[in-house]
Amino acid sequence: MDAEGWRNAMRDWALPDAILAAAPESPWGFPVELFRSRAELATPGGLTFANRRARDALPDGGTVLDIGVGAGAASLPLRPRCSLIIGVDSSKQQLSEFRRQAHRANVTVRTLMGEWPAVARRSPVADVVACNHVAYNIADLAPFVLALTAHARRRVVMEMTSRHPTAWMADLWWQFHALKRPARPDANDVVSVLRTLGLNVRRHAEVTPGRAGGFAHREDAVAWIRRRLCLEANRDADVAAALGERLTNDGACWTVRPPVEPVVTVWWDVRPEGAE
Ligand SMILES: C[S@@+](CC[C@H](N)C(=O)[O-])C[C@H]1O[C@@H](n2cnc3c(N)ncnc32)[C@H](O)[C@@H]1O
Repeated sequence: MDAEGWRNAMRDWALPDAILAAAPESPWGFPVELFRSRAELATPGGLTFANRRARDALPDGGTVLDIGVGAGAASLPLRPRCSLIIGVDSSKQQLSEFRRQAHRANVTVRTLMGEWPAVARRSPVADVVACNHVAYNIADLAPFVLALTAHARRRVVMEMTSRHPTAWMADLWWQFHALKRPARPDANDVVSVLRTLGLNVRRHAEVTPGRAGGFAHREDAVAWIRRRLCLEANRDADVAAALGERLTNDGACWTVRPPVEPVVTVWWDVRPEGAE
């Protein structure tokens, strides 16, 4: 798949106007609680594969630019090697949660609010650029990724689920709206697009239980999926029933994920200016 194929595949994910018009609340956006819990689970003592690829390229006292930072799960665990983390996000609420998490962890951070790559010109360059679980939000992947590369002195690391993060909801869309959902793009497509851009990308896939994040209350987990499905609040019981065993409590929080969802890390090194 090339960049145009990506744009076309992403277009297939658009929801029909009739479903959106009837939605009582916006189905878009990310609950802060979900990404706060992800950030709280992400510690320097429990680095993920993607965290380790980022750490390996960081000089002591280096800098990290985290695009789509959420509450900071991709970058805050790197703090023992960092002098500064810059978090970019289009959501004001996510950025304020990121600052709160950084304060708790005693890390120096800066934040930049806006959509990448539109805000890229206002962003500093960093040793490592991290971008976890954002790719499937991006309709136009080529300029997004080229701006990541242009802002890294050493390495770019992206992490994503192997399938689109809502692909697992296909049966729910069918049950509640008789709507078929697409299967692509997927992580293989991310890699293909990056290679067509001339990036020397490496990839690694693994199943990483326990880092998805979740909700303190069962009803909040159900309500999130119900909003995503563009349904009224009075359908929560139906949504919970349809989720079945996917709605689980792992002892720490309520999650609404399929039990096994491989996570893919892709990373590439950036040749320092002037290098042969
Ligand atoms: C699924 S969350 C991932 C958060 C975090 N990276 C993590 O792994 O926990 C995606 C985040 O990217 C942000 N986002 C999505 N598209 C963006 C864009 N084009 N520019 C900046 N932020 C974006 C969202 O607001 C959200 O906070």
